[in-house]
Amino acid sequence: NDDQFKKVISHAKEYGYVFQSSEIYDGLSAVYDYAQNGVELKKNIRDYWWKSMVQMHDNIVGLDASIFMHPTTWKASGHVDAFSDPLIDNKDSKKRYRADVLVEDYCAKIETKIEKEVKKAAKRFGDAFNKDEFLSTNPRVVGYQEKINSILKRLGQSLEKEDLADVKALIEELGIACPVAGSKNWTDVKQFNLMFGTKLGASADTAIDLYLRPETAQGIFVNFLNVQKTGRMKIPFGIAQTGKAFRNEIVARQFIFRMREFEQMEMQYFIKPGTQLKWFEYWKEERLKWHKSLGLGEENYRFHDHEKLAHYADAATDIEFRFPFGFKELEGIHSRTDFDLKQHEEFSGKKLQYFDHEDNASYTPYVLETSIGLDRMFLAVFSNALVEEELDNNTTRTVLKLPAVLAPNKAAILPLVKKDGLPEIAKQIVEDLKWDFNVTYDEKDAVGRRYRRQDANGTPFCITVDHDTLEDQSVTIRHRDTMEQKRVKIEDLKDIIKAEVDV
Ligand code: GAP
Repeated sequence: NDDQFKKVISHAKEYGYVFQSSEIYDGLSAVYDYAQNGVELKKNIRDYWWKSMVQMHDNIVGLDASIFMHPTTWKASGHVDAFSDPLIDNKDSKKRYRADVLVEDYCAKIETKIEKEVKKAAKRFGDAFNKDEFLSTNPRVVGYQEKINSILKRLGQSLEKEDLADVKALIEELGIACPVAGSKNWTDVKQFNLMFGTKLGASADTAIDLYLRPETAQGIFVNFLNVQKTGRMKIPFGIAQTGKAFRNEIVARQFIFRMREFEQMEMQYFIKPGTQLKWFEYWKEERLKWHKSLGLGEENYRFHDHEKLAHYADAATDIEFRFPFGFKELEGIHSRTDFDLKQHEEFSGKKLQYFDHEDNASYTPYVLETSIGLDRMFLAVFSNALVEEELDNNTTRTVLKLPAVLAPNKAAILPLVKKDGLPEIAKQIVEDLKWDFNVTYDEKDAVGRRYRRQDANGTPFCITVDHDTLEDQSVTIRHRDTMEQKRVKIEDLKDIIKAEVDV
């Protein structure tokens, strides 16, 4: 809900995870910077992905292609012609909208009305209330539902046909989301390309127009044969990559969920034509397993199979996650057929084929793609982790229950007091542990406050050095989630922490 989401955003700022970019100049819309803790969390998510994709698969290798690519790449990929959003301007309010989002938001509002009717009826009828029966018989609710269905049908059809006049008519007819009551003063719906353009070269007449890549995938396609040959890869094999992508998103909202500069983690799996459905199912399950391994709650994921497919795909599904604002796409799994490689063959005039020794034949491989936004994954992990707990003594504590493997700091080392040699021992523990993982030292404030601070920072362990440590070389280790404390030997610390934070 809204409140929880606001807490997520302010916590991310207050604890050094995410800042608005160029904040001193009042920020830049939909662009964010990762701060001292955020950069570690982001790196740990990237590493967790890389390990499971590249290190754990003998037939998947990595790549780091450039952000700049030859401009023909984007003609071949279809992005110049087809990578656009339908926009509409309201002439009275001078505001710009995404036409499809406008209509979808309108439908969501009708759905809220339906929910209200259901709640009211449930209250009125008590135990005798039957929701399914109510939904199918109450005339007002049935009317709402029919309206939504007919709008979505018209919207889907008209966008597919690119008959945007229809969408405009619908927006006018419904008076959708118009800040000026009754206004029908809309422009036509126009297609707006999402790629950022820039120039390569200094002189005006020789400079070439370039695009910042809107997806990392194309860097993999154009390198397909180089990697296959030099790596002596046999189909099926994959190429994995993480890196920045850029999109001039029109409706950029919801914090780091939809940004103009973001990072993708993609893997293209090159397969034999005809096997794509098998691999589609395989990667759906594999990727869901990866998500579940982080323990964010199995009920927070669902698949959303696409009915409307992108120009390159013959099957596609999203793994959706329950963000604070509802279930939304986190990762896409696409069966891209041989669309991209064939297009690059055509535009470059070079063969991008694979010789299959078993079949004694050459073919253009099909591609199964898994594509996840690193920033979006960050938001999933971070928003899921932030909880406020009621404690037994009627106080609350804010805890960031990050999976230990992803936490920026694995342990905080705290001397109980700032004297009697305790800081020296604590600092020596930091020196010993920092070879294996990020640890932090904190001596300011009472120890209880330091625990709370580390809870809110997401640090899984606090290690306290006290006067007994001087006698027996043991310390107290406190677990973030259970708040349980145990006495352990300093020499065992490394193994105890490792057991929890290693993948
Ligand atoms: N190569 C396929 C591709 O790029 P996509 O569905 O457009 O497919 C894949 O993007 C993933 O990238 C999405 O599931 C999402 O996690 C992330 N993503 C896309 N646009 C984004 C944006 N503007 N901000 C943050 N993440 C984004």
